[in-house]
Amino acid sequence: MAATIQAIVDKYGGDKGQLVSILQDVQAEYCYLPKETLEEVSRVLHIPLSQVYSVASFFRAFSLTPRGKHVVTVCLGTACHVRGAPAVLDELGRQLGVEPGKTTEDMQFTLETVNCLGACALGPIVVMDGQYHGQMSPVKAKKTLKQYSEVSQDDNHG
Ligand code: FES
Repeated sequence: MAATIQAIVDKYGGDKGQLVSILQDVQAEYCYLPKETLEEVSRVLHIPLSQVYSVASFFRAFSLTPRGKHVVTVCLGTACHVRGAPAVLDELGRQLGVEPGKTTEDMQFTLETVNCLGACALGPIVVMDGQYHGQMSPVKAKKTLKQYSEVSQDDNHG
């Protein structure tokens, strides 16, 4: 793990000002930010752990707890909200059997919400594994989710 963190920090020339980008890369590597990785970043960059923590917990994009294999993010910003995002969120929660912010027991899906993704014209938007799906409805959300579940089942068999 230490070597991986070192490589990421090196990529940014050890620049403390790149902390957010560094943490993004670390998260891409581990799917979330395990405590040990934050300690390592603090050590390598020579910045206090408290500072690393405050950045990691400030940005919603960062997760300090393990997340599912697939991350489903529902935009609840104003534009998406008025176009029916809450119903989409309800449907996804029902399908997955989890509340927003939680991960399914099999660690396959994490359901999250966000306040505006900056693409309001496409709303309501659901992001699945970084892919934007616009003009969502509960029915469409259910279908899209099903596609992702099937992909992950194939993965398990392969
Ligand atoms: S409110 Fe959803 S993208 Fe802006």
